[in-house]
Amino acid sequence: MSAQAPVRRITAPQIRARKGGEPIVSLTSYHAHTAAIVDRHADFVLVGDSLGMVMHGMESTVGVTLDMMIAHGKAVVRGTKRALVVVDMPFGSYEESPAIAFRNAARVMGETLCQAVKLEGGARMAETIRFLVDRGIPVMAHIGLTPQSTNVMGGFKTQGRDAATWEHHINDARAVAGAGAFAVVVEGVVEPLARAITQAVEIPTIGIGASADCDGQILVLEDMLGLNPNTPPKFVKVYGQLGGLIEQAVADYAAEVRTRAFPGEDQVYR
Ligand code: KIV
Repeated sequence: MSAQAPVRRITAPQIRARKGGEPIVSLTSYHAHTAAIVDRHADFVLVGDSLGMVMHGMESTVGVTLDMMIAHGKAVVRGTKRALVVVDMPFGSYEESPAIAFRNAARVMGETLCQAVKLEGGARMAETIRFLVDRGIPVMAHIGLTPQSTNVMGGFKTQGRDAATWEHHINDARAVAGAGAFAVVVEGVVEPLARAITQAVEIPTIGIGASADCDGQILVLEDMLGLNPNTPPKFVKVYGQLGGLIEQAVADYAAEVRTRAFPGEDQVYR
């Protein structure tokens, strides 16, 4: 009889050590059963605050609460055993001070049992990132297009079209790396800027709409599954059209019930 080795979760330092190596695979997930599927293929799973838009029909991520992140985070941790689980800190839960960020991040870690948190912002969040990391909370940073700031940015706009802004974004990447972030999501930036950021820091860059020059990629699961009721961003490759399949299955079911051919009912309670 051979004893099975316990499955070990990928850790934040292991992700950090993948800089420049085999590309890091990641996807979002918000519930246990999709998380279990993603767990078999990805290095880390992000419980992104995009769940506000994808799961709850919100127009932006600004209204997402800590309680929502914790509820979905718990489900994803329950559904996974191998991938690192990262939970997003929602808008308003970390910007005010490092101490408030720590209290809320500790609550996310303690209640969900996730292994890391992610927060948006570059140089302006460096002090907070250092404060969290020094107190035992692995932090993934998020720079470039930061959706929680779209009200200031004036929408979901690709960053770095004007080369004069590159220095600002590269400084952001250096600041979060210097503060101890183990990886940084680089969202919605032009390709040469993504390349420059990736070359400028010693932590892995995880791109979303930021080209193949990053150290890994993340997509919103529902986008790549064809489950986004809106047109997904241009850079998303859609690997399956689940929205159409679900629509057809529900329509077939409804048609059968309406003809009184209640599906399956002849098989039970006899
Ligand atoms: O909330 C989210 O899904 C994210 C990804 C887009 C990186 O932050």
